[in-house]
Amino acid sequence: MNLEEFCERFQTLQAERPETPRFLHIGQQLLRGLLRDPAWFGECLQGYIAGPTFLADQPTSVFDNEIRLHRSPDKSLTILAYIWDSQDLCAVHDHGAWGLIGSLLSPLREVKYRRLDDGEVEGFARLDQVSDSLLEPGEVGFVLPLNQGIHQTGAVGGALTLSLGIYGRSIRQGYIHFFNPAEKRITRAHTRILFRKVLALRALEAMGETFLAPSLLDSLPEGLVREFERSSSNSKLRSLSNPGVFENPRKLV
Ligand SMILES: [Fe+2]
Repeated sequence: MNLEEFCERFQTLQAERPETPRFLHIGQQLLRGLLRDPAWFGECLQGYIAGPTFLADQPTSVFDNEIRLHRSPDKSLTILAYIWDSQDLCAVHDHGAWGLIGSLLSPLREVKYRRLDDGEVEGFARLDQVSDSLLEPGEVGFVLPLNQGIHQTGAVGGALTLSLGIYGRSIRQGYIHFFNPAEKRITRAHTRILFRKVLALRALEAMGETFLAPSLLDSLPEGLVREFERSSSNSKLRSLSNPGVFENPRKLV
């Protein structure tokens, strides 16, 4: 099966709106079919590298090792590839959507966590590791949205690893959570597009009222304005307690 066939069959499955267990069962079967012969992926990569708009075509993601292969117009199906080239696991994170994960080349390590606190304390999260396993090439696992799918993934033993992630429509836009289990901290990690737009708004705000008129804010997506206001108020609080220190807002929200 190639990527085009997979997308067609997967979208047909989604249109049938099966119950979750059946959806996951059939979805995993379809993904195993896509993983069986990764020749289509080699052709995808060659096309991306050769194309003059290779970088321009790619949306900016929280993860630098991510390549978007497909997104349906209604955003109900997104297919991402990940290239893992170090032994480090990625940051512990959640997802805004359900996801199926499969390894294309070399085993993918996955460490799963469950959240123990109730989420009521801003910036605080207590996690418990529940598994540490390998997805061999051709094998498929899944993650659930938000607190039910907290995990981290990566290569094993330094072997370059390729994995695919199949995701549904996100129920949370613009960011995911990063967790630091040892320090019991949770932070928001934004896609860089949002991060840059928030920074641009912060710059306009710093340049003076005439540059950041209410009419401009009114014309922007609600989520962007919310993150700007959040970042801006964090900044004011910081400058009161520690004047003169500039910090990257991506690390503070
Ligand atoms: Fe993930």
